[in-house]
Amino acid sequence: MRLWKIPDQVIRLAVLIVIALAVLIVVRLRFIPDSFGEIGHYRTDALKEQAALTLHYAGMQACIECHDDIGEMKAASYHRNLSCEGCHGPAFKHVDDPGEFSPAVAAGRIMCVRCHGYLASRPTGFPQIIEAIHNPVEPCTACHDPHDPTPPEVPEDCSACHAEIARTKAVSHHWSLSCETCHEASPEHRQSPRSFLPKKPTERAFCGQCHGNGSSSRESAPQIDLNEHGGRYLCWQCHYPHHPEGR
Ligand code: HEC
Ligand code: HEC
Ligand code: HEC
Ligand code: HEC
Ligand code: HEC
Ligand code: HEC
Ligand code: HEC
Ligand code: HEC
Repeated sequence: MRLWKIPDQVIRLAVLIVIALAVLIVVRLRFIPDSFGEIGHYRTDALKEQAALTLHYAGMQACIECHDDIGEMKAASYHRNLSCEGCHGPAFKHVDDPGEFSPAVAAGRIMCVRCHGYLASRPTGFPQIIEAIHNPVEPCTACHDPHDPTPPEVPEDCSACHAEIARTKAVSHHWSLSCETCHEASPEHRQSPRSFLPKKPTERAFCGQCHGNGSSSRESAPQIDLNEHGGRYLCWQCHYPHHPEGR
């Protein structure tokens, strides 16, 4: 009887280690690409292969070399951060030989709507339109220069932008009140709507000017008891101010 014998599990472990080493050696010798590890933990030949791929995009800097007028115009516009090829498609061949190959010129409405069509998930304040109702049929470029898209004319009327509210009010009991009766809007609101928001009424007393019992203003405005009517709620929690209904 031997006093001491190598336990079975150690033998199995040793066999596994030997197999693992053998696999490792085979893999190192047979399967690792030649240029691996020459200048870092990757295949050096990959650099040459990538560099040899055909170029499709030239980048905006290349375009501006020849189209400097468009480059300057775009740099001062809302589209300053867009790349030329984002709209015109890959144009490396054109840079190579402008006479031979012309980039696409997307003239319809679809290309613009890709970025400006209404989507609830776009960031707030991003200029969005509903394609079906924003000046339909005409191409966007009839009114917006794609390289400087701010529309040439700023509309005077509130209804140019708030058409739905204006149309609603026009057939309501408040048809005779101008928007400015209830909203103090600075002229800048038309230029840059979201940076200069008009004021909205904030308290019941505002409507009370005309509707409060004994208010002297318009005799045609139906009167209510400002203290009793509607309790503590704001008037516009029950009456839509652009189309109020009382009966
Ligand atoms: C080497 C000078 C040069 C470079 C660089 C260049 N273009 Fe042009 N591009 C021209 C010339 C010249 C024309 C006019 C060719 C013609 O009318 O056939 C032109 C025309 C165009 C047109 C109008 C095509 C048409 O069908 O009316 C577009 C769009 C355009 N280039 C976009 C680009 C973009 C985008 C880039 C950058 C990727 C670029 N260009 C870089 C010289 C250049
Ligand atoms: C927002 C998309 C958009 C971007 C960004 C854009 N373009 Fe255009 N580009 C257009 C559209 C659309 C037209 C066609 C205009 C038309 O039909 O009146 C056009 C027309 C052109 C034309 C031919 C007509 C002309 O105005 O001379 C050239 C050249 C041109 N683009 C070059 C460029 C270059 C260079 C850049 C980058 C500095 C650029 N574009 C960036 C959309 C774009
Ligand atoms: C790749 C996306 C992209 C495409 C395509 C694109 N735009 Fe824009 N557009 C933008 C961005 C970004 C802004 C700047 C938004 C900002 O400043 O918050 C902008 C701003 C605008 C504005 C607002 C200018 C203002 O006065 O407030 C108009 C109008 C506009 N684009 C029209 C167009 C038209 C027309 C086309 C098609 C020829 C077009 N855009 C294509 C991304 C795009
Ligand atoms: C008939 C002229 C006309 C056409 C065509 C037109 N627009 Fe406009 N667009 C305007 C005017 C004017 C404004 C400024 C007033 C407004 O917001 O309605 C404007 C505003 C915009 C704004 C800014 C909206 C905001 O909330 O700041 C965007 C974005 C826009 N247009 C994109 C487009 C796109 C995209 C197309 C094509 C699908 C297009 N427009 C076609 C005249 C036009
Ligand atoms: C060029 C287009 C344009 C014109 C013209 C315009 N607005 Fe606006 N208005 C906007 C936009 C865009 C908003 C922001 C809407 C949003 O954030 O959802 C806005 C918001 C408002 C708001 C809401 C403010 C808030 O705190 O929610 C009021 C009230 C308003 N406008 C009143 C007016 C009045 C009154 C006029 C006429 C004197 C007018 N607007 C003219 C584009 C316009
Ligand atoms: C009788 C007063 C009154 C008149 C007239 C009026 N508004 Fe309002 N408007 C309000 C009140 C009050 C609110 C606030 C409603 C709320 O907070 O729910 C409001 C809210 C708004 C808003 C914010 C969005 C919304 O629908 O709640 C816009 C935009 C607006 N008004 C535009 C206009 C325009 C454009 C006109 C003219 C066509 C106009 N308003 C006329 C009282 C008025
Ligand atoms: C809790 C909801 C509620 C609130 C808040 C409310 N109203 Fe009314 N209002 C009504 C109802 C319901 C009617 C129609 C039944 C009636 O005459 O009591 C009405 C009717 C009216 C009438 C028509 C009265 C007539 O004789 O034709 C006016 C004017 C009026 N409200 C103005 C206001 C004003 C101004 C405020 C804010 C100070 C206000 N309401 C707040 C619910 C409300
Ligand atoms: C500048 C005065 C004025 C202001 C401010 C005003 N209204 Fe009026 N309102 C009127 C007039 C005038 C009429 C009645 C028009 C008619 O007889 O057709 C009226 C009618 C009404 C009616 C009755 C509709 C019906 O069915 O008889 C209600 C409700 C109403 N307004 C609610 C409001 C609310 C809510 C506010 C505050 C956001 C408000 N009004 C602010 C002048 C005003």
